[in-house]
Amino acid sequence: MSFVTIAYAALFYVATVVFSVGLLNKVLQFASAPAPLKIPTMPAPLTRIGAAGRVTREVVLFESLFRSDKWLWIFAVLFHMGLLLVLLRHARYFLSPVWGVVWDAVVLIQPFGAYAAFAMLAGLLLLLVRRVVLARPRYITNPSDILLLILLLGIALSGIFMTFTVHTDIIALKQFFVSLFTFSFQELPTDFLLLVHLFCVAVLMIVFPFSKLLHVPGVFFSPTRAQCDNAREKRHVAAWAASMDAER
Ligand code: HEM
Ligand code: HEM
Repeated sequence: MSFVTIAYAALFYVATVVFSVGLLNKVLQFASAPAPLKIPTMPAPLTRIGAAGRVTREVVLFESLFRSDKWLWIFAVLFHMGLLLVLLRHARYFLSPVWGVVWDAVVLIQPFGAYAAFAMLAGLLLLLVRRVVLARPRYITNPSDILLLILLLGIALSGIFMTFTVHTDIIALKQFFVSLFTFSFQELPTDFLLLVHLFCVAVLMIVFPFSKLLHVPGVFFSPTRAQCDNAREKRHVAAWAASMDAER
């Protein structure tokens, strides 16, 4: 087995462990963090179902961003919707065509996924230009903001070149990834663009639990969005204050 195959197999095992353990750890931390006050942004839904609807609109439509900054909303939607379609299209590298309806959906998405890559690329470039050119966003931009956008640009560009110019051996690639699940290692194709693409993806997985990409699980735990406005009907007592409350 070639050195490249062994190195990438090891890299993806490490990346998978860091990504899943790191993410699980953060989600448990978010879920158990005290919410000492009722602080939903007003006007807020009055019931828990209403609050669930609000979080759903936030995830699907980026509702609060739309209210605050229309240009940033357009850039963010271009990038995220493009990314979503691209990732759905990628399911064919890991699934076998025996998954019934799921497989049919993956097949249906293929042509859209390929062109969604350009929406993703345009979104990333616009987000980067915004951070560099506009004075106010530039003032609050950290190196990690720029590096993350460059990493995603590296993934998008290497992917697009593979799809539209220098193709890779998808069958061999799939065999390599499926073999990682069963520890029966197969050779990874060694074309340059694929190695760049996969290296950037592994780095993305490793930085995910330590970066602002935690906005993905974080949006579901944001008290200003996920709490409902029922302070008049139900007294809200934080866990740490419950014993004091009972003594009174
Ligand atoms: C539940 C899914 C997701 C939601 C609801 C979501 C929502 C958002 C929103 C509202 C922004 C704000 C734009 C801004 O203020 O700069 C944002 C920024 C960003 N998101 Fe997501 N996102 C999701 C998933 C992802 C994923 C999977 C990735 C990448 C792997 C990602 C990468 C980014 C990046 C890099 C930015 C910063 C753009 C910048 O530099 O301005 N997001 N996201
Ligand atoms: C281990 C995971 C991944 C593997 C094995 C993989 C593999 C590939 C391959 C082989 C292509 C070329 C497709 C073709 O020739 O038709 C491609 C394209 C692409 N990849 Fe990935 N990729 C992975 C993860 C990702 C991630 C996480 C992103 C986004 C953050 C991404 C973004 C893209 C884009 C934008 C394209 C071009 C459009 C397309 O064909 O869908 N990839 N990827």
